[in-house]
Formats: sequence, structure tokens, C-alpha cells
Amino acid sequence: MSEDALLRVSGKISESLHNDNLSAPATMRSGPGISSQLLDDLVNRTMPEVIRIRRQIHSHPELGFEERQTGALCAETLASLGVEPMTGIARTGVVGLLRGRGDGRTVALRADMDALPIPEDTGLEFSSRVPGLMHACGHDGHVAILLGTAMVLSKLRDTFEGSVKFIFQPAEESLGGAREMIAQGVLDSPPVDGIFALHLWPDLSHGQIGVHHGPAMAALDKVSITLRGRGGHVATPHKSSDAIVAASQLVLALQAIVSKETDPVEPMVLSIGDFKAGRAYNAIADLAELKGTVRTLDPALRSVMPGLIERKVKGIAESAGAEYDFEYTFGYPPVINDARMAEFVRDVCSSILGPDKVATMTKPSMVGEDFAYYLEKVPGAMFLIGTGKAPGESTYPLHHSLFGFDEDVLRIGVRGMVELVIDFLTRSWHSSG
Ligand code: NI
Repeated sequence: MSEDALLRVSGKISESLHNDNLSAPATMRSGPGISSQLLDDLVNRTMPEVIRIRRQIHSHPELGFEERQTGALCAETLASLGVEPMTGIARTGVVGLLRGRGDGRTVALRADMDALPIPEDTGLEFSSRVPGLMHACGHDGHVAILLGTAMVLSKLRDTFEGSVKFIFQPAEESLGGAREMIAQGVLDSPPVDGIFALHLWPDLSHGQIGVHHGPAMAALDKVSITLRGRGGHVATPHKSSDAIVAASQLVLALQAIVSKETDPVEPMVLSIGDFKAGRAYNAIADLAELKGTVRTLDPALRSVMPGLIERKVKGIAESAGAEYDFEYTFGYPPVINDARMAEFVRDVCSSILGPDKVATMTKPSMVGEDFAYYLEKVPGAMFLIGTGKAPGESTYPLHHSLFGFDEDVLRIGVRGMVELVIDFLTRSWHSSG
């Protein structure tokens, strides 16, 4: 089918997509008829370019706030589609606004662009060419999917009212690029009515979609503790205060917060991952430094954690005759999907992939994601696309030097994002309640 023919067909679809009298969302979707076929065709035709882009980004990974080449590629691609890119947002971020044929809602889609300081071991022909860096969290795929979505929607811009905001965000991995993008106004002018993002997910089998109705990922906080005892010779412990013994007691005592002082059905992680102390095998350590992470889903539980932890630190320091420094840093908030938006994602993905391919996720993950900041401002949802093998077969996890995925998930991602946008902009939200 030629492009002109496709566009003519899409013009007809727009009539049915725009019937605001229809309250049942399923009837407004492109549905099983010709329009769904049209979208499939458009998506399939973009795939060679989407895969080329993914491989190019994969070969040239960049760390957070350093995504200059990746950002430039996003900006160039948007410009080639007639979508004027705004660049340099939060240093390397890029935003494109695609306007439909008239005023309407604005839906935002977000992809994260940064890679990780992990040397790649996959042996792929398009492996990282940057020593020590790798796209091991699938962000190369996220960017390629979002650009593919822009390619398809730019061809359909005369068929919908409203706007689509494409957000290419830097520094998701621990630096909080989302927070800076929001501070620089990416959710304003025009204001965003709904926002969606996806993450490739090895724990789901290939092509399976997962969406949480509510809490999806954990808040990521950091705790830093220093215990100051009194050093001395190991032969005279009674003249010293051993920071290693006190810190060891503290590590165990902190675990009792999880087991004894918080609701056992409320998920949380409290883990010390960094413990430094001591200088010589025959000297009593005067200093111990502990660093750890606290991960919670419930904002109320999160808010009491600093107090619970400091009480343990204070008690143990006092009993050991030591002094302490305590620092609790609130990091990413929990990712909490809007229930209605999550239901919307589930409906839309079920309609194009079949209900058996879409799972409502009942268990949140204790990883963190700075998409949480957008969800604090705007209703939306993050959903997951499975990159795993068949159930029971193992695959490499995110942040692993062998992480990889079948590139057919890019097609599923583009198809899903395109459908989400069209449905979001054409759906009669009020009447479908
Ligand atoms: Ni990630």
C-alpha cells in the first residue's frame, strides 16, 4: 500500500475515531477492522529505521546528562518529521510537540536516554563502542520506540485533535533527570493531560505487557551513618570504643526495623550495601561508615523511616560510648500509576495484542524509576514490555553485562504507544468515566 493510499484510509478512520458520542472506549479504538490494519502497516514500515536507530544508540552509549549524540539523533529525527525539537532541556534533554489538526488534549510520552557504567559482554555486532559503558537497561530501545512512535503519528497528524509531546529525558539512572525536565517546564505549554512510559522487562516473557494498577516501583532513599568510637590496641579493649562492633550490631538492629517495627504486609527494603571500617588487624577501629538504601512503596511508611533508623543509631552509639552522624536522603518517589490510566493501558494493549498478552501486575518491583516525578504531577502510567524468553527459561536481568532483547519488542512498543496516543486523544473520557 502506498503512503498516499495509507493516508487516504487514515482520513476515513479519523471520522470514526472522532465520534465523541461513543462512550464505550472499545468502539473508538482503531479496532479489528481496516484502521487497525493501517496502523499495523505504518508501524511495520517504520521498523527497519527503528531498529537502525536502536543499534546506533546501542553502539554509542552515553551516561546521564552526557547524552549529546543521543539527544542530537532524537532532535534530527523529530525535525525530519516536521516536529520542531526543543533541545538542551535539563542539559541534554529533547522535547518535540506534534500538533494534530485542531485543539484538544495533550498526551506526553517519555523515553529515558542514558546508559550505564557497565562493560558490555554481549558480543553483538552493534555492541558498545565506548569502553566501560553499555545500554544495559534497555533505554536504547525506549528511545527507538519513541522515535518510531513519532514517525507513525507524524503521518497521522491530520487524523486527530490535540497534541503529542515526545519527551527524551536524560539521566534516569540515579541522577533524577526527570526532576530537572519538569523544573524546566516539560509538563507545561501546553499542559499535559496524561503521560505514559514503558520499560523493557526481562521478568515478563517476550511480548507480554504488564501494568500495575497503583504502586509499581519503590521510592529510592539513601541512608548514610558514621559511628565514631575510640581507637586503641586490641589488647586493651576496655580503654577503647570499638566502632566495628557497634556498627555490626547496628546492621543487625536495622533488620529488626523490617521484621519487627513495620507492617509485615507493607513491602520495604532496608539494606546496608557499603560498610567501611578499620585500618589494621590488631587495632580497634575508631570509625565505621555505613551506607545503604531504603525502598518503600507507601508514602506514610517512607516518612517514618528516618526516625526509626536514627533511633537505632542513637541507641547503639550511646550504649557503645560512640558518637554518630546520620543522614537520610529522600530520592526518587515511588512510581504510582493512576488506576484509571493503568486500566486504559490494559484495555488498549488488550485490544491490539489480545487479553492473554496483557497482565495486571499484582506485585510491585522494589527497583526505582524517576518517571515517578511525572506521575506526581500528571495522571499516567508506566507499563512493562516483556523481553524474557518462554516462561521458565532464564534471561539476563536489567543492568547485566549480557542483557539483550529480541528487537521485535520494538514493534510491539511502537504499536502500543501509537494506539495509546490515538485512543487518549479521541476517547470521550467524561462519558466513559
Ligand atoms: Ni531503566
